Amino acid sequence: MKRLRIGILGSGKGSNCLAIFERIRSGDVAAEARVVVSDVLDAPILDIAREFGVPNAYLPPGRFRTRLEPETEEHLVQMLRDAGVELVALAGFMRVLHEPMLKAFPRRIINIHPSLLPKFPGLEAWKQALAAGEKVTGCTVHYVDEKIDHGQILAQREVTILPHDTPESLHARIQVVEHELYPAIIGELCERYSEENR
Ligand code: GRF
Repeated sequence: MKRLRIGILGSGKGSNCLAIFERIRSGDVAAEARVVVSDVLDAPILDIAREFGVPNAYLPPGRFRTRLEPETEEHLVQMLRDAGVELVALAGFMRVLHEPMLKAFPRRIINIHPSLLPKFPGLEAWKQALAAGEKVTGCTVHYVDEKIDHGQILAQREVTILPHDTPESLHARIQVVEHELYPAIIGELCERYSEENR
C-alpha cells in the first residue's frame, strides 16, 4: 500500500505525535511523516521529530495569540505543499486555522480534542468536564473547519470520570486513550485514501 504523506502541527509536548510516529515505525500505520511544524520555538514536539529523523520547522506565528498571521498561514501552506503533505494532523496545535489552510487542504486536516465533542470545545476540556459534574468524558478525532473544535466527527472514545479524579489524573487517562485512537484513525484514513487513489 502506498504510504500517505502526513504533516503534523503542534505547540506543545507532542505525546500524540510520538504515538503516531511509533505506530508508523511499527508498521501499523501506513503513513510517512514528512514534516512537523510548531509555532513554539522550544516545543518538545520538535525534539520528538528530531529523534525520529523527521524534518521539522519552527514557524514564527506573528502578532496574534490564537491564530497565525495571514501571510504566515500562506507560508505554512507552502511548507506543507513543498513537503508533499496529503493529510495534516493537528496534535496540540494552539492556533485556529483559517482560509489559507482550509482551502488548501479541504477535508484533509484533522484534530484530536480531549472531550466528547460537541461537549466542551476550547481549552482544558477535561477541566470543563469535571466542573460540569460529568460521569463520562473522552476524546474526539474530527475534521477541522473554520470553527474551534468543530467539524465532522471521525471517531470518539469514552473515558470514565472517577470520583477522586483531579484535572491531572483525568487528563492523563484521556491522553492514554488519545494515543490509541489518533494513530488508529490516521491508519484508517491512510487505507481509505489509498483505495480512493487506486
Ligand atoms: C491533547 O490532549 C489533544 O487532545 C489536545 O492537545 C493535547 C496535545 O497533547 N488537542 P500532546 O502535545 O500531544 O501531548
